[in-house]
Amino acid sequence: MSLLKVEQLSKVYTNNIAALQGVSFQIERGEIVGIVGESGSGKSTLTKLILGLESYKQGCITFNEQQIPPKKRADVRAYRKNIQMVFQDTNSALNPKLPIGKSLLEPLNNFTDFTPSYLPPGKHTNREKAERLLEMVGLEKVMVDRYPDELSGGQKQRVCIARAISIEPALLVCDEATASLDVSVQVRILELLKTLQRNLQMSILFISHDIRTVTNLCDIILVMKNGCLVDHFQLSDLYAPERHSYTKALLQAAML
Ligand SMILES: Nc1ncnc2c1ncn2[C@@H]1O[C@H](COP(=O)(O)OP(=O)(O)OP(=O)(O)O)[C@@H](O)[C@H]1O
Ligand SMILES: [Mg+2]
Repeated sequence: MSLLKVEQLSKVYTNNIAALQGVSFQIERGEIVGIVGESGSGKSTLTKLILGLESYKQGCITFNEQQIPPKKRADVRAYRKNIQMVFQDTNSALNPKLPIGKSLLEPLNNFTDFTPSYLPPGKHTNREKAERLLEMVGLEKVMVDRYPDELSGGQKQRVCIARAISIEPALLVCDEATASLDVSVQVRILELLKTLQRNLQMSILFISHDIRTVTNLCDIILVMKNGCLVDHFQLSDLYAPERHSYTKALLQAAML
């Protein structure tokens, strides 16, 4: 049973822009899937549909065999817990008035019945939980009391990742999560995502306009152009002759 299944999904915005046209793919448990494509190819639209932030009329999305967006309220809650998101813009993702420790614990406070596997058995104070999360993303414990404007872009993105994985989602969706970071920080964030994926056994859907980043992280790569999925392959087949001409052009432009 696939974790996420997208079948013949299309989306036309009210201005008649066909942002997605018959997109189909699936994500299995523990897979890291990358979607790459130029600006305007429909990547964020796809993310919004998967997260239930935009409606669609054609096609079907199922998560754990359940239709997205779910019909019953109880199912919406489970789905919210199981798909978490990391965005490009860390400034709007973190409340500037809240110390990092408080921002970090928002999801855990919404799902108080959830017991994290990354905490030792027993009771924990909020500070202990926040410190453990910071440790998992390679940040120092003293960050608990700091405010977002006292952190670098890379540190803020680590906080956003810690917050997203705090309730151990089955699927982590990252939309251009490393796009604003300089290359050395990008590489370290990708390493962090790989480690967290292994330790927490989650799946990752990683969206980027940069094929270099996607090939660095992902096992399976989907290529989008003008709302269509034009290529779909395992990383080991990156240089196979049957790659779509657009994939080849992206590789050439990135000098890969
Ligand atoms: N809310 C909206 N209303 C109308 N058109 C939209 C809306 N959101 C996106 N679009 C259009 O849909 C198309 C796909 O946009 P989308 O944001 O999904 O692209 P993207 O691949 O994420 O691009 P980028 O790499 O720049 O983030 C574009 O032509 C865009 O102008
Ligand atoms: Mg986008």
